[in-house]
Amino acid sequence: MHTDIPETSAPNESRRDLFKIAGFGLAATLAPGLALAQLKAESGSPSLALQRKGIDRALDIINPDLLEAEAKKIYSAAVYAFVTQGSGKQWTLRENQYAWDDWAFSPHRMGGVVRNKIDTSVTLLGEKLPTPIIVTPFGSHGLHHPEAEVATARGAAMSGALACFSSASTASLEDIAKASTGPKWFQMYLNVDEGISREVLQRVPRAGYKGVIITIDAIGQGSSDAYVRSGKARPWLPYGNFPSGTANAFKTNLSWSDVEMIRKITGLPVIVKGVTRPEDALAAIQAGASAVQVSNHGGRALDGTPAAITMLPRIADVVKGQVPIILDSGIRRGTDVAKALALGANAVAVGRPLMYSLALGGAKGVDSLLKFLHTELVETMLHLGVNRLGELDSSHVIAAPGGRFATAPAPARAISPRE
Ligand SMILES: Cc1cc2nc3c(=O)[nH]c(=O)nc-3n(C[C@H](O)[C@H](O)[C@H](O)COP(=O)(O)O)c2cc1C
Repeated sequence: MHTDIPETSAPNESRRDLFKIAGFGLAATLAPGLALAQLKAESGSPSLALQRKGIDRALDIINPDLLEAEAKKIYSAAVYAFVTQGSGKQWTLRENQYAWDDWAFSPHRMGGVVRNKIDTSVTLLGEKLPTPIIVTPFGSHGLHHPEAEVATARGAAMSGALACFSSASTASLEDIAKASTGPKWFQMYLNVDEGISREVLQRVPRAGYKGVIITIDAIGQGSSDAYVRSGKARPWLPYGNFPSGTANAFKTNLSWSDVEMIRKITGLPVIVKGVTRPEDALAAIQAGASAVQVSNHGGRALDGTPAAITMLPRIADVVKGQVPIILDSGIRRGTDVAKALALGANAVAVGRPLMYSLALGGAKGVDSLLKFLHTELVETMLHLGVNRLGELDSSHVIAAPGGRFATAPAPARAISPRE
């Protein structure tokens, strides 16, 4: 199985493959090729291993799409394929990019907007954030950097961005929380064993997380046909939150009552991630969710599901502002952020490009990408003529001419036959 969700045992990943990625960035402090898994064996705990320093440098980003090619140079073939690919024939993965072109901007001019007074702050679940761009939950940051989520947490905190961390993290949720001075939410993959879920969930508020995301779409294989054909084993590192051997059996028969269960155990607001239809957004609210995350898991859940941005307007239409909407899947530019906010999202979450930045630059790399996206968002707001995010609405986008939501061209005017 090749999903990003917990598995029964470490598959047969070649040590050389792991070394290639886990050894990256360790070169300065450790013998080349020393893998994280090996560090764990030496130190007895992944947390201790994560104290080893990795690369930490700012990145000069011009186009986030180029990060993937740069990261490819340091990833093993297995890690590269595992992280970059989507499921099935990868239609949804491609849609997550193409669908941005269904929308075009409609800039409002002459509004007297002053660039350095543009306000990008947003309040999410009572927390005022300086930026609507957040770090999505993503398993096994240790595949990208030896300090794993600890480096991501530090990078996100540099700009005060909200960071969400997966229960399938390399570092423990406590170690991540210690490293983070910024706002953070925890994402839970429920376990078939309720006792294990409960034990993890009880630790979440104690560590200082302010919200719990339940991901509802990672219930099957997330591998592409190409990945399966390649016969590559899923890259695997130990998880930091579970005693070994217990993190494996995730619950797939989820139901809306799980939302209330998480809320009761943690006392925290619950965010439902993986919503792709309006009815499910309403059901989530009904079940007590404090926010919904429109997402197709970056094209790794059900292939053939539309792009998140395609479904957003319909979902926003029924949610009607009752709870905040977060959108992820395919965010690559500040212009994507602005389109999502104009079409009804309150915030957006970024996945793969942040992992490439983590691999290439550690905490400072993460910070570089968040700053890049923020700067582009400000620039886009300037052009659109908005001073603050609340002013950004559907009047700032149109169905792109030639895009799939463009109204059909008017029928050619009948020409009266010449006498
Ligand atoms: C390799 C990989 C691991 C992921 N791990 C998780 C996870 O542990 N929990 C979760 O809720 N989502 C996970 N996701 C999904 C992301 O949260 C997010 O929905 C997706 O990456 C957004 O799309 P993007 O990568 O195009 O930005 C993962 C995605 C990838 C590609």
